[in-house]
Amino acid sequence: MAFSTSSSSLFLIFFVSFWLSLVLSSSAGNFNQDFQITWGDGRAKIINNGDLLTLSLDRFSGSGFQSKNEYLFGKIDMQLKLVPGNSAGTVTAYYLSSKGSNWDEIDFEFLGNLSGDPYILHTNVFSQGKGNREQQFYLWFDPTADFHTYSVLWNPKHIIFSVDGIPIRKFKNLESIGVPFPKNQPMRIYSSLWNADDWATRGGLVKTDWSKAPFTASYRNFNAINACVWSSGASSCTSSRKSATPTGNAWLSQELDSSSEGRLKWVQKNYMIYNYCADAKRFPQGFPPECKLS
Ligand SMILES: *[C@@H]1O[C@H](CO)[C@@H](O)[C@H](O)[C@H]1NC(C)=O
Repeated sequence: MAFSTSSSSLFLIFFVSFWLSLVLSSSAGNFNQDFQITWGDGRAKIINNGDLLTLSLDRFSGSGFQSKNEYLFGKIDMQLKLVPGNSAGTVTAYYLSSKGSNWDEIDFEFLGNLSGDPYILHTNVFSQGKGNREQQFYLWFDPTADFHTYSVLWNPKHIIFSVDGIPIRKFKNLESIGVPFPKNQPMRIYSSLWNADDWATRGGLVKTDWSKAPFTASYRNFNAINACVWSSGASSCTSSRKSATPTGNAWLSQELDSSSEGRLKWVQKNYMIYNYCADAKRFPQGFPPECKLS
């Protein structure tokens, strides 16, 4: 009897998790629908009916893709699983960017490393063509062992970078003290896997080991349900037919609650390895204005 009880509860677990995965995946995007491969001559692939996208890199080329939509504000999630093993010299870039010489940009870049050595998560924010706002982090897990969720919450108040729901960086809107903030230029999502062994490995110290090629990074569960799609000069969030994204407008004014602020501090204290706002050598004339307020 014990046997039949456990097998029926096992069945229930399978059934529930199958149902849950259907519900969850139906809310996630489909790569065929939301993205297009832009370069790499067959090295980028959309597989499993649009559920999975892989990029690869070998000594001849990397590869990349971009979103079909442009967005002006959004809460955008993507799950990534990075190049495993010896990935030194490879860079997986995942970012939002507008066009033109005064572009805005929100960057995640994952710098590979030798087997067993930690990846670096490099972040930056450009507003009106000016960046130089790098912060780098180690992660509290191995980002090559499994998929993890990397998110950007971009609303008129701030840009928050999160990893598995834990905020790692906040870039506040400080237009009030003259710091430009990305809020007028729609951005597309871009990603690429490329070779940067001339800078990514502590100034080119370690070279990419091409005998390990092809290097592969994978993507799944893109979610931009709470994002404003920009098309023909209008935002889906303000058009008359739809006043908000399906789950409402809350994300457009969302701020970090005190427990999230606490987790942000925890990450910055324990995992941040570079902060432009602490790099006095780089700013002999004084730190950029946003540094004094964050
Ligand atoms: C690679 O690992 C070394 C040794 O732990 C570390 O100093 C370095 O920051 C890591 N990342 C890169 C990109 O070199």
